[in-house]
Order: sequence, then C-alpha cells, then structure tokens
Amino acid sequence: MSGLPQRPPGFVYRTPEIKRVQRSSSSLQRADNSVPRLHCEAIPISSLAEKFGTPLYVYSAAAIRERVLAFKAAFREIDHTICYSVKANSNLSLLRLLAKAGCGFDIVSGGELERVLRAAPGSVKQVVFSGVGKTSAELDAALGASILLFNVESAAELDALAQCAERLKRTAQIAFRVNPDVPADTHPYISTGLQKHKFGVPLVDARSLYSQAARLKFLKVAGVSVHIGSQITDSAPFSATMQRVAELVRQLRADGHNIRFVDAGGGLGIDYCGSQDFRESVGSYAAAIAPSLKDLKVRLLVEPGRSIVGPAGVLLTRVVYRKTNGDKKFVIVDAAMNDLIRPSLYQAEHQIVPVEFNDANRESVDIVGPICESGDFFARDRELPVVGEGALLAILDTGAYGMALASNYNTRGRAAEVLVSGNTAKVIRKRETISDLLRNEVAAL
Ligand code: LLP
Repeated sequence: MSGLPQRPPGFVYRTPEIKRVQRSSSSLQRADNSVPRLHCEAIPISSLAEKFGTPLYVYSAAAIRERVLAFKAAFREIDHTICYSVKANSNLSLLRLLAKAGCGFDIVSGGELERVLRAAPGSVKQVVFSGVGKTSAELDAALGASILLFNVESAAELDALAQCAERLKRTAQIAFRVNPDVPADTHPYISTGLQKHKFGVPLVDARSLYSQAARLKFLKVAGVSVHIGSQITDSAPFSATMQRVAELVRQLRADGHNIRFVDAGGGLGIDYCGSQDFRESVGSYAAAIAPSLKDLKVRLLVEPGRSIVGPAGVLLTRVVYRKTNGDKKFVIVDAAMNDLIRPSLYQAEHQIVPVEFNDANRESVDIVGPICESGDFFARDRELPVVGEGALLAILDTGAYGMALASNYNTRGRAAEVLVSGNTAKVIRKRETISDLLRNEVAAL
C-alpha cells in the first residue's frame, strides 16, 4: 500500500479481507468494502470512534515500546537512563507502561511528581526535576520522595533547595542546568539554549555556583544538566552542546567535584511527514551525544518526550459540516484547538488522513474546529481526499503535546484517551463532562 501515510507498528492502513465473489467460474471481484482502513495495531480505528465517541486520542502501546527500545539500542554503549519527559503526555497508563519498559522520568512540577508516585512509585528513584520556578512546596515533595536529581536553574533556587533540605534533614543530589548558548533550529517558543532564554545558568558562572553548592550541608553535587530545546532534527547542536558540557565536567572534576551524571535533556525532533526511520534518527542523535562523554565514565540521562510518544498517538475526529465561502472550502470537524493547539501555537503541520482511505478525488480544504477564533484550525489549504459529513479523520503524530496542552476553552470537555495493545483497547482517561467542568465553580452574588 505505497503512498498511504503509515506509522507502523502503531497506525497502519489495512484492507479488509477481500470478499471473493464468484462471477463466473474463473473471475474474482473485489467487494466495495475493499478500501484501506486505518487500524491501531489490530483494531480498526472506526470501531473505537463508534464505541468511545470523538474527538478521541488513541495511543499504541507497541509504538511506545518500540521507540523506547530504539533509544536503548542507540545508547547501548554508554551507561544511561531514559528519563521520559512527563510533560509530553502525562497519562498515568502511559507512565506505567514507560516505567515497565525501564524508563525513569523528567518532571517539572509537583503535579507531575504526584503522577509518577501514583503510576509507578518504584520509579521515583529515577526522577529528575527540571524547571525554573520550583516552589518550596514542590522541592519539599521531591525531597520527601528521594528523587534522583534536582536540576537547579539559578542561585536563588539553590538557596531555596538548601533551606528545604536542611529543614527536612534530607540530602538532595544536584546538577546545575547550564545554558550552553547554542542555537537550535526550531520554533522560537521551544528553543531554550540561548542566553536570552530564561533557562539554566550561564556556563561562565557554573564553576562558582558549583563551589557554592559544595559548601551546603544537605546538598550533594552530582551532575551537570542541559536542555537546548525541542523538535530539533539536526544533530549538530546536540553535539556542540555536549562538547561544552564535557569540557565543564572536566573542569568541575579538576575543582574536586564528584560528577557522576550528565543529563543531556530532551529535544530530539520527529519527522511529522512520517518518512524518516526512527532507528536512524535516534542513532545519529546518540552519535552526536555519546562520543563526548565516553571517556568521562558518567551515567548519561536523556529526557525524551516527543520522540517517544509523538508518533504513537492520533487524534480522531469526525467531520461535522462542509462549507464553502467563495472559493474557500472548509471541512469543520468536532475536534478543536482546545484539543490540539500545536497548529495554531507553533504553526505545526500534522498530517491528516481519512480513516477510510479513498484517494480517488482530492481537493484543497481548510480543516477547522468549531471554536470561535480564526486561529482554530488544524490545516490550511491542505490537499485531502474528498471527505463527506460524518467521515472520520485522524490527525497524526499527536501523542506528544496534544492532550497535555488541551484546555476547556469554549467550555468544551477534554477528549477521552484510549490505549491500544494488540487487539485490546482501554479507556485511560474518560471524556470530560459538562459537570466535570463546572464542579469547582459557583454562580456567586
Ligand atoms: N527536558 C526539558 C527540561 C524540557 O523542557 C523538555 C521540553 C523536554 C525534556 C522534552 O523535550 P522533547 O524530547 O519532548 O522535545 N509544547 C511544545 C514542546 C514544548 C517542549 C518543552 N520542553 C510542542 O508542542 O512542540
């Protein structure tokens, strides 16, 4: 089935069994239902829409597992832990699946810590805590949970952590997140490794901060951390960053610090066109990172989010109406920017495909949601096979930063989420009802 936008092993088009209709003694005929249909693993996606409604996030367990294995294979020559970045998709079932696949976690809030504690308490010892604005309450919770590493992002945070640790009499292992001042070719909102960004501490300040930290009783200097941005598809900035980090590790060791961890952050981009081989891309990513660290005998921590779960999810939506304004054609669907904000926020282009693939006639359309903003679109002037009202569309590669950024804008309940493994499908988050939305509100006065 060449030409079809496939995402094996999670999402593939399959043609149902060809019904063999005997016309004459020798000729066989294809039945009408022989159009390719999108499946998630062994399940036809349309049956999920019927059972659970739309809009619906559908995830493939096999796809997630395969991606974790690809990471492990790529980094096999270096001691490492994959700390999945919870922010990309924080559903409890996915966290449990990832913990079972051997992952630790990268968290950025007390809420994400709580998720790890509920989904995979045994993995809390493999948690790293990043973020520029950790509150004392969040630091206390993380100290109480004995996480692996605090990635400290400022001198002020160092003070706050030292105070919390002293008050609780708990020791915290720390790394400073350094800002390497390396540009990454990605959307400006998700580039983080330049001095003008709020993240990390400048490399030039690092040595004095480390010596300050080493004097604090309940803090233990243990690593160096970095993260230069997200959706980075060129490996050169990763390699430049790691060279700077390796140099810093050498200096810090010379200064007497016991550096055992290098946290390389996340950021490996995915190919939203789906044509790239993931093993190859994670292979070049590892080849950019690992060589600088090889002689240092550190444990490498990586914090991938998008590259693990992005292509493992689709957002399933149904066409509500078609309409034409002058020469513009609109396909109005029941999902909206509150379900998936990436196209409007980052100009992201997700492939959108009909669940029943009939490529006979194509047309150029805008695929839009029902929200009262012109920014509520999934694609503009997109070539799509003609789909009628009631047809199902799948927005691909939405497993990362889809549901995680969903909101209740326009008082829309958030979508349900379903996890598929082989031929079983489980609801891993129920659809939000209007009562869920109004529960904490009062009509005062
Ligand atoms: N580690 C840190 C410290 C991060 O800030 C991030 C992402 C990650 C790891 C994971 O990065 P990944 O491997 O997923 O690229 N909402 C945006 C992406 C925001 C990324 C924020 N930080 C989007 O939809 O593109």
